[in-house]
Amino acid sequence: MTRTVYVNGEYLPETEAKISIFDRGFLMADAVYEVTSVLDGKLIDFEGHAVRLARSLKELDMQTPCTKEELLEIHRQLVAKNDIVEGLVYLQVSRGSDGDRDFAFPDPETTKPTLVLFTQNKPGLANSPASQKGAKVISIDDIRWGRRDIKTVQLLYPSMGKMMAKAAGADDAWMIEDGYVTEGTSNNAYFVKGGKIVTRPLSTDILHGITRTAVLRLAKEAQMEVEERLFTIDEAKEADEAFTTSASAFVMPVVEIDGAVLGDGTPGPIAKRLREIYLDESLKHAI
Ligand code: PDD
Repeated sequence: MTRTVYVNGEYLPETEAKISIFDRGFLMADAVYEVTSVLDGKLIDFEGHAVRLARSLKELDMQTPCTKEELLEIHRQLVAKNDIVEGLVYLQVSRGSDGDRDFAFPDPETTKPTLVLFTQNKPGLANSPASQKGAKVISIDDIRWGRRDIKTVQLLYPSMGKMMAKAAGADDAWMIEDGYVTEGTSNNAYFVKGGKIVTRPLSTDILHGITRTAVLRLAKEAQMEVEERLFTIDEAKEADEAFTTSASAFVMPVVEIDGAVLGDGTPGPIAKRLREIYLDESLKHAI
């Protein structure tokens, strides 16, 4: 099926959508993005994604392409036009194109940002077989730039990380910097030991996951113990269980780290419970 996508004010068939070859997102990775999940035809955590987008734009001195209300309307239109029941909405804002290549930012008065959105249809997202099996992860060095709290489209290294994982027969990679786990290639990382959930605190070293915020709040509400601190891959390997969080996979149990099997090698009870609570609560508040 040909998707309807959104480019700078227009809804178009994906085959007709165009942006300039001089777009700075294309030439310089000068762009930020958001991925919002759709369940039951409704948007999960839209507010959180809109707030983080505004922050990413501000941190990079990039113009805001439209209001939050307009963004919500575009998301909803795309979900409706593409009949998405379960899936994702991808949004990207780049600094636009001034018709040439220059390292200096163009004048924001004359060069407007490029806004692109498209949907991805993912039937069965809430009940994915991967979440029932759990993921195997490997660890790799984190050699990304120092502002990982800004959600930029510089995803080459995370893509390479996924390929390294695949080559090792695993599903994903957790990255390590100065001896401590930062995050997964496209998710935040956690382990559980003696009932306590441990995850890295927020800083410029990791993306401030929207799912992370919700899951930690829900864990605390369910009287689970949460500790935000640096942790090593060895601690995670010796954990009772582990998991990741992201808008695209919600709470994903991790059953193996660098070949070390966690627990009995199946998704742990805390990860499973958090996934259930997160999906239940998200659906209640979906818009
Ligand atoms: N990735 N850390 C990184 C590096 C990420 O790329 C993501 C999300 C997260 C989790 O953030 P959130 O809970 O807001 O989705 C953490 C998205 C899903 C992606 O790139 O497709």
